[in-house]
Amino acid sequence: MLNALVIDTDPGLDDAHALAMALTPSAQRPHVPVAALCTVAGNTGIDAVTANARWLLGAYGEQAARTPVHRGAAGPLAGPGAEAAHIHGGDGLGDLTRWPVTEVKEDDVPAARALIDSARRDPGRITLVALGPLTNVALALRLEPRLPQLLKRVVVMGGAVHGRGNHTLNAEFNIVADPAAADLVLAHFPHLTLLTWDATLACPFTPDEFESFFGGETEAATTLRRIVHNRYLTDPGYADRSHYLRPDPLAMAVALDPTVVTRAVRHRVYVGYGPGTLQHGVTAVDWQDARSDRPPLTIVQELDRNRLLELLRV
Ligand code: BDR
Ligand code: CA
Repeated sequence: MLNALVIDTDPGLDDAHALAMALTPSAQRPHVPVAALCTVAGNTGIDAVTANARWLLGAYGEQAARTPVHRGAAGPLAGPGAEAAHIHGGDGLGDLTRWPVTEVKEDDVPAARALIDSARRDPGRITLVALGPLTNVALALRLEPRLPQLLKRVVVMGGAVHGRGNHTLNAEFNIVADPAAADLVLAHFPHLTLLTWDATLACPFTPDEFESFFGGETEAATTLRRIVHNRYLTDPGYADRSHYLRPDPLAMAVALDPTVVTRAVRHRVYVGYGPGTLQHGVTAVDWQDARSDRPPLTIVQELDRNRLLELLRV
């Protein structure tokens, strides 16, 4: 197989959009086959996110429905975990009344194993896009220490590197949901790109731009339009926003078209651990390059906004 993606995800409203970008053909986007979709507990529990993934792939049409779905970790490696039902709805998809689709079957192989198998099958050709807590990736790394060499690239949505968190005061959701896993992953993958909450805040979309992402006639656009419009009804605050943020779609954009990154820096990143303390899930950057105990990562600073408007349209 030529280059392919493995997507690790906890769908999730913005995950659903990112999945559509990878699975919907478009003249505006490079097409990269998806070798496997792995689920991980995050925005909601593992049963709900796995059910969401299976349903979304069924709703996104024939090509998407061929993607194998692998159930992943039901909770963090250590500590209390986190969920974000207040953002994504109790079912993770905005409390949608779903219409019947032929849901994709769940594969028996667990997520961490599937990630390793994909990487071994196509060494140097798989880009891993991690859109949820990093539990599965950390487990896979423990089972296969050569994983960093086997993967072509890793793109992670996670981290708040300037002290402004979105789940706690200073921590971003995907990292604080499993800080032990995040620290392990950030310590071991030199060709990892971090699409942070800071980069997400720097790319707000107007309501019109947001709507334009789902304005088309593809099955994915129709599905996302219904999900978003339903969310407007169930959470009136969602409808009234002056702008919309799309963290996971930005990470998917970086994975599909690295040239969308117009500025990035490389530094080491560390994750704090201490449930109940202000350090829990904090991503601390070695801005002065004072340390040498882990490889530096690429931290995205700026994205090409016009290109994003093309890439996020499904
Ligand atoms: C991340 O947290 C989740 O709620 C989103 O799906 C995204 O992956 C943003 O901090
Ligand atoms: Ca997510």
